[in-house]
Order: sequence, then structure tokens, then C-alpha cells
Amino acid sequence: MSNPSLLILPGDGIGPEVMAEVRKVIDWYGAKRDLAFDVSEDLVGGAAYDAHGMPLHDDTMAKAQEVDAVLLGAVGGPKYDVLDFSVKPERGLLRLRKEMDLFANLRPAQCFDALADFSSLKPDVVAGLDIMIVRELTSGIYFGEPRGIIEEGNERVGINTQRYTESEIDRVARSAFELAMKRDKKLCSMEKANVMESGVLWREVVTEVGKDYPEVELSHMYADAGAMQLCRWPKQFDVIVTDNLFGDLLSDAAAMLTGSLGMLPSASLGAPMANGRPKALYEPVHGSAPDIAGQGKANPIACILSFAMALRYSFDLGDEATRLEQAVEKVLADGARTADLLGEEGVDPVSTSQMGDAIVAALDASL
Ligand code: IPM
Ligand code: MG
Repeated sequence: MSNPSLLILPGDGIGPEVMAEVRKVIDWYGAKRDLAFDVSEDLVGGAAYDAHGMPLHDDTMAKAQEVDAVLLGAVGGPKYDVLDFSVKPERGLLRLRKEMDLFANLRPAQCFDALADFSSLKPDVVAGLDIMIVRELTSGIYFGEPRGIIEEGNERVGINTQRYTESEIDRVARSAFELAMKRDKKLCSMEKANVMESGVLWREVVTEVGKDYPEVELSHMYADAGAMQLCRWPKQFDVIVTDNLFGDLLSDAAAMLTGSLGMLPSASLGAPMANGRPKALYEPVHGSAPDIAGQGKANPIACILSFAMALRYSFDLGDEATRLEQAVEKVLADGARTADLLGEEGVDPVSTSQMGDAIVAALDASL
């Protein structure tokens, strides 16, 4: 049998730096656990625009469709702000999500004990926090038509459309219920059914799907109230399912509960392929952070934990994923901090590559 295949798309800004640390981890699994991956690498975002004049080349898109999993760093940067919308770096990422039909975006927000003091919330509010946001990723206002900026009378009008079909809601709801079954069996669905018809339909369909999962305790919340509850007492949640735009906002808010965006991974999953594995793309929740790019300051943990999610969700290697997560936990408990995690007096930051090396050393120690 051939090795599982991985396509690595480092992208822009800090993407290449954090991905270099992931490569160390991937190499470690090949050398020490006999888990070899066929790794190929390609361009996305601004890097692809610089090379090809487009943020994702068709050949790269085709490769992404063939591999077992895609691992992406980050896209975007100020240099590309002037570009037309259709070729902005972000369009490369959105094209991958859309054409691979990665409808279920899993964004865990987990607070590592060593970092509980680091959150802007009180430690007892966040200590031990472990929630999962399931964000719909291929529809809603990100993709709905009509869209654009049109002329109307003597002024311009900006238009975007929130649109969800029943089947789109149904499939992402099922993914969320399945996850809830493997966790604490609690699911909260968030929309704005008080003002949006798409929210009314969302609530109806999620409720209907819930009948297939009688063991899961289902609740509904308006997304604004959900945002408030996330800040007030986040531990009331286990799994949250929500649409594309609300999920974008709520997952950033949830990320900050844990202290740093630099810690959080994500998985974007689609329908199962012929080999039974879901189509999948893994990426850190953080962006390309152009202000610190190239300085060795970036935190590689989110990207490394994204690879852990790949081990779990694409390769059925849950034990190895746990090993990697525990290695990260150990390194943090031992006091290693990248610049984004500073705040404690008298602690010098470690560089991106020192953090990667420490995690590899902790993996060694796990054997
Ligand atoms: C995210 C990002 C993206 C999004 C951007 C980069 C297109 O904010 O993954 O959360 O809005 O979905
Ligand atoms: Mg976002």
C-alpha cells in the first residue's frame, strides 16, 4: 500500500515559517513511528499570485483534489490589498474550500492549563475549556448570489446574499451531531432566527436532524446572545454549530478565550472519498501576520496542532494525534513561550524554530 499523501501549501507571511516546524514533526513520525507520508509542496495565496498571477493555479487545485489531506499555512498580506477582489490571496483559500466542498469546519477552542492565566478572561472562566465550533464553510453569505457593488440612482450599493439550502444545513448539522456523540453529547445551534429567514430554516432543519440523535441534548441560541455567553461562561458549551459568517466571528472570539490565536488549529472536512477518508484541509485559525513575518517570532503550535487534527480525522491515528497534543502541552507546561504568549515577568521568548525543536524533543521523550 502506498503512503498517505499530504499536500503542503505554506502560503504567505508567517505561513512558511510555521510550516517548516510542521515538516520537522512530519519527519519525526516518518523516522520514529514508521509513519511515512508522501509530502508535496505548492503555492497558494500571494505566493501563487506572484508566480502565476492567480492565487491558486489550476494544477495546484487538481493536486489538492487528489491527495489524502491538504495542510495550509496562511494567506494574505498588505502587498496584495490593492489587487482586484477576484485575485486576492484569500480567493485561493476560498476556492480550495468551495471546490473540495469542505462544508464542515471544525474549530476547537481548548485552553491549555499552562496558559489559563494568559487569557484576558479570569482563569476560572477558561481553565479546562474544551469546546468545538462547527462552522458551515461552503455556503451562506460568503458565496450567495447576487453579490457585488452596483449603481443605483446616483449612488453605489454593496450587495451580498445569505442563502442556505435545506441539504446544506442538514449535512453540516449531521457532522456536528456526530462530533457531539463522540464528546459530551451537547450541541448548541446558533443563528438569528429572530431577524433572518435563513435562520428560521436553519433552526427547523437542525431540529429535524436532531431527531436522529436523541442522545444529544440540542439547544438553540441567537448568535449575538451566543457571542455574549461565550465570553460570560464558555464552559456551558460543548459543540456549537453555526453558519459561515457567524462561525467566522464566533470562532475568533472563542479563540481569544484561550489566550492566543497562535494556538488554535482547524480542520475543514467534506464528503468521504472512495478510500473512505473525508476530503480534508487543515489550517491554523490565525492569519498570515505580516507584521511579524520572517522574524522567527511566530507561534508554530496552531499549525502543528492542525497536523494533529489531520492524524485524527484523515488518517485514523487518534493515538498519535493525542501524543502530539500532549507533547505540545508538555512544552508549554515546561515554560516555553513564543512572543505571542508572553506576559509573565522575566520570561524570554523562544523562536519559532526553538518551539518546533522543543515539541520534537517532547515527542522523543514520549517514546
Ligand atoms: C478564516 C479567515 C477567512 C474567512 C479569510 C482569510 C477568507 O478569516 O478562515 O476564518 O473569512 O473565512
Ligand atoms: Mg476568520
